[in-house]
Amino acid sequence: MVEKYIPGYSSNATSFMAKRNVDSHAAFFKPYLQPGMKLLDCGCGSGTITLGFAKIIAPSTAIGTDIESSQVGLAWENAQSQGISNVEFREGSVYELPFSDRAFDAAFSHAVFEHLQSPLKALQELFRVLKPGGVLGLRSPDWGGFLIAPSNPELDRAITYYKLLQEKNGGNPYVGRHLRALLREAGFTDIKASGSYECYEDLSTIAEYLALRIESSDTVDLAVQKGWTDAESLGVMSQALRKWSQHPDGLFAQAWCEVVGRKG
Ligand SMILES: C[S@@+](CC[C@H](N)C(=O)[O-])C[C@H]1O[C@@H](n2cnc3c(N)ncnc32)[C@H](O)[C@@H]1O
Repeated sequence: MVEKYIPGYSSNATSFMAKRNVDSHAAFFKPYLQPGMKLLDCGCGSGTITLGFAKIIAPSTAIGTDIESSQVGLAWENAQSQGISNVEFREGSVYELPFSDRAFDAAFSHAVFEHLQSPLKALQELFRVLKPGGVLGLRSPDWGGFLIAPSNPELDRAITYYKLLQEKNGGNPYVGRHLRALLREAGFTDIKASGSYECYEDLSTIAEYLALRIESSDTVDLAVQKGWTDAESLGVMSQALRKWSQHPDGLFAQAWCEVVGRKG
């Protein structure tokens, strides 16, 4: 199976991620950071979280990496528009980081591990680039803990299908619960786990994000070709998401799992 990043890089997906910042999505890692630390943010996307880290660890430099060059470009633009200069962005895969051994005091990765086919391999690479005593923070969702209401059969089918899509593309929608074990397996010690919920105020944000993934043409072609479902059913699923998002009592509470560990 080939690992494929399903959210893609459309303006919808990119602006969905770009709403994130350190306080909204990485607060659990802040107590471990200090001015002067060298920090890596792996799979940084448009860099909005990395920029917050840069402010905390100044005057040292925060480095963001992403496998996708368009995201690296966006991250540089965001740094420039926010006037943050102690930050760098580079293209690179989490499986083969372009850094020497023991280069960082802290490493972080947000909303990346659920898309990886070989999370342990990625963790071993993050372990390699950390200094002894260095700290790692990871945060990924676990779809087993999501609270989505009110439910209906078409909506349930849409959610089930999105999870299938992630699995069929090499990811794991339930990786959150495994992060602690993965850290231990990779050699990290002093592991702390926590969890949190993100409730979407505007349901149409998450509904549109999921609907567009379900109905994107490459996704539909692949799903039909592989026999996972048919084009008509996909249309019904994406419309169900949009209709649900207008419900006055709708709730989408996304479960996030967080872990912090040390390279002993
Ligand atoms: C869901 S986005 C998260 C972006 C950012 N960390 C955030 O939370 O806003 C996942 C990012 O991981 C990147 N990514 C996916 N697979 C990767 C890999 N193997 N190595 C490095 N980055 C990867 C994607 O290009 C994408 O920008």
